[in-house]
Parts: sequence; C-alpha cells; structure tokens
Amino acid sequence: MTTATDRVRQRAAQQPPWESDDVLRGVRQDLARLPPLTDAAACRRLLHDLARAARGSAFVLQGGDCAEPFADSAPDRISAKAAHLAALADRLETRAGLPVVRVGRFAGQYAKPRSQDVETSDDGVVLPVYRGDAVNRPEAAPAARRPDPLRLRSAYDHAAACLDTLLVGGHLVEGHLVEGRLVEGHPAHGPADRAPSPVYTSHEALLVDYEEPLVRPDRTDPHTGGRYGSSAHMLWIGERTRRPDGWHVRFAETVNNPVGVKLGPGATPQDVRELCERLADGRPAGRLSLITRLGAADTARLLPPLVDAAAAFSGRVVWLCDPMHGNTVRHGSGRKTRVLADVEREVRDFFAVLRAHGAHPGGLHLEMTPDDVTECVDRPADLTAGALPRYLTACDPRLGPGQADRLITVTAGLLERKDVL
Ligand code: PEP
Ligand code: CO
Repeated sequence: MTTATDRVRQRAAQQPPWESDDVLRGVRQDLARLPPLTDAAACRRLLHDLARAARGSAFVLQGGDCAEPFADSAPDRISAKAAHLAALADRLETRAGLPVVRVGRFAGQYAKPRSQDVETSDDGVVLPVYRGDAVNRPEAAPAARRPDPLRLRSAYDHAAACLDTLLVGGHLVEGHLVEGRLVEGHPAHGPADRAPSPVYTSHEALLVDYEEPLVRPDRTDPHTGGRYGSSAHMLWIGERTRRPDGWHVRFAETVNNPVGVKLGPGATPQDVRELCERLADGRPAGRLSLITRLGAADTARLLPPLVDAAAAFSGRVVWLCDPMHGNTVRHGSGRKTRVLADVEREVRDFFAVLRAHGAHPGGLHLEMTPDDVTECVDRPADLTAGALPRYLTACDPRLGPGQADRLITVTAGLLERKDVL
C-alpha cells in the first residue's frame, strides 16, 4: 500500500536511495523527538531584518561553504567562518552606511543536490556521487558513497554543536520571547549599536527525511497552528528542486521561516509569479527571497522579465544575487572553478537591472571560506595558467578571503552610489 508519506516522497527530487528503510524510520523518529535546533522567535526576527532588505534599508550577506563538512563543527572552524562573515559584513556596513544582515551558509549545509547520480573516479571506477555529509562521504570509494540514514542523525548533532559554539561566542541571534510574546526590537547590527555581530543560519532544505521531522509548532505565530522548520533560521530551495508540483515548494508553504528560492537561467516569469503567490502572498514582508544565479553573460538579459514578474510584491520580496552558480567553468586542470571577474560582473548587472526596474538589490549569496584556498581564479587568463594547489572544497569552488574582500569592495561601491545603474 502506498501511504501519503510515500506519495509525497515520490514527488521529491534529489532524494538519496537510502540503504535501509527501517533505519531511516528510526532516525526520523529520533529527529522528531529531539529539541528544535533554532528558535522560532529568531526566525521571525530574521523575517523582520529581511523585510528591511526588501525595502532597501538593509543589505543581506549570506555566505559559507558549498558543502559544509561535519568536521567543521569543531569550535575553531565554525567560529572562523562566523568571524569571516562578520568581518565582511562589518566592512560593507561601514562603507555603505547600511545595516548588513548576516546569514551563514553553515551550521547545517550538509546536503547537496547533484546533476548526475554517478561519477567516474580518477582510477576509472564508477561511483555514486557525494551528496553532502548528511548522506554519504566524499572519499572515492564505494563504501564511502553509500547513503546512510544514520548520517541524518549526525547532521543534527553537528548542527547543534555549531549552534552551541556560535551562541557561546556571542555570534548567534537569539530569539527573545517574554511570556510567549515576541519582544520587538532589532539585533545589534546597526553601526551604532554593534555588540558582537550576530549571525543567522541557513541551508538548502533538500532532504525530506531531515527537514520534515524537525518541523515544530511556532509559538510566535499570531495565528494558531503555525509551524516552522527548526533546522535553521532561513531555508532555501535549490535550482534543481523548485518545480511547482514538487515536495520542496510545498514544504516551504507549510513553514513560517523566511525561505529562499534559487532562480537559474531556465526560470520563467510564470515561475516567479507562482512562487510569489504561493510563498509570499498573505505572508509578512521578507518571507521570500528570490536568489538569482543566472550567469554573468546572461543576467542583463534574463533578469528584467523576472523582476517585472514580481512587481506586485515589490518591497516585500528580497532580491539576492548568487553570482557563483551561473559562472562555473572548467580550469585547465579539469577542476570546476569560477572567475572572479565574472562573479563581479554578475553582481554589477544585478544591481543595474534591479535599480532600472525600481527594485532594491537586497543582498549577496556567496560560496566563500576564510581558508587560504585556490578554488576560484581572478581572471580568465588564469584558467589555463598553472594549477589550483589548494583546492579543498568538497563540492563547488569557493571565494578565498582576498577574493571575498574584493567582491565586498565592489559591492560597497555599488551600494554607495545609488545613482549608478
Ligand atoms: C548551491 O547553492 O550549492 C547549489 C547547488 O545551488 P543551485 O541550486 O543554485 O544550483
Ligand atoms: Co554550490
């Protein structure tokens, strides 16, 4: 017999072929009994901050790894990432004179959608692909690549460890509930009142069997019956899972968190209209972020009709630019890379289109690391020159610290000069 759950899962793209249904069922039960990872009040607070970004009175910096390894829940690793995000946000805030909302792509970014189910290793062995530490391991060996449901349980533990470190370090935004009522106010991120810089957490809500059991009642919901996804403050839906009839958009409809949706080159104005209707209509401002990743060459052409399609929600949806995923190319060494010049160009064109259409460029969504890596290159000429000696990412190439700095400088310049299209 097919249960309702089975029917929903059949509509969910990108789910791993888990090894054991019995183990999976047990893990789901565990996850459903564990405490929520995030606080509903902090999620609602992020909603308020994102509403400011939608109106153009704040800017969002969302960033972190493509695939976050479990090992990076070690206190020094997660602290370094939060500090990196905070330092970039501080500089942007000071230069641009605008509050910067800090959203980590960490403390739970453990699941990856993939274009192919298998890959061929350097030794010519065909292997199932790595799908993030919540599913399998990156090592090029068949045993490492088996999707193990127990890793979902580990994902919870590693996310919890990250959140504990962030909280103790004063990085984490805490919810403030007094007698069940959300205390209005603002996290300390205005230039004048900056205590330690608070960060929110986010990840791609990809895995049905992780996200579903972590849904909890939302005590801050003014209407009864509200629920939120307690795995992070903000959840986004990826380019490969945003089909309107799929599980992921439906899941986003059922939770109160701020949600994002990636929009790649195939996104149509009709897609945008439907996403706005289903995810933003009748919801607070800031609830939906549209995260464009159209590629440097095509942003100027493809973005205008998408912005027009959301005109009815102007000032209520947040436009974020992911200048990474539309600009992936091959380096001479065979590695996936991105050219910083392309990344910059996509950001410039994003600002130009949004402003020309009377909308606000609301923020950036980046893959970046505080580590000294060579994963992205600076110029097109670097694609054929030399090697990429410090290529450490488990998935997509990230901006290193100098490259992220450079992009923040460019972005600060664009924010300062509101007249520049
Ligand atoms: C990602 O953010 O790592 C990703 C897979 O992006 P997209 O869904 O936009 O391809
Ligand atoms: Co990526």
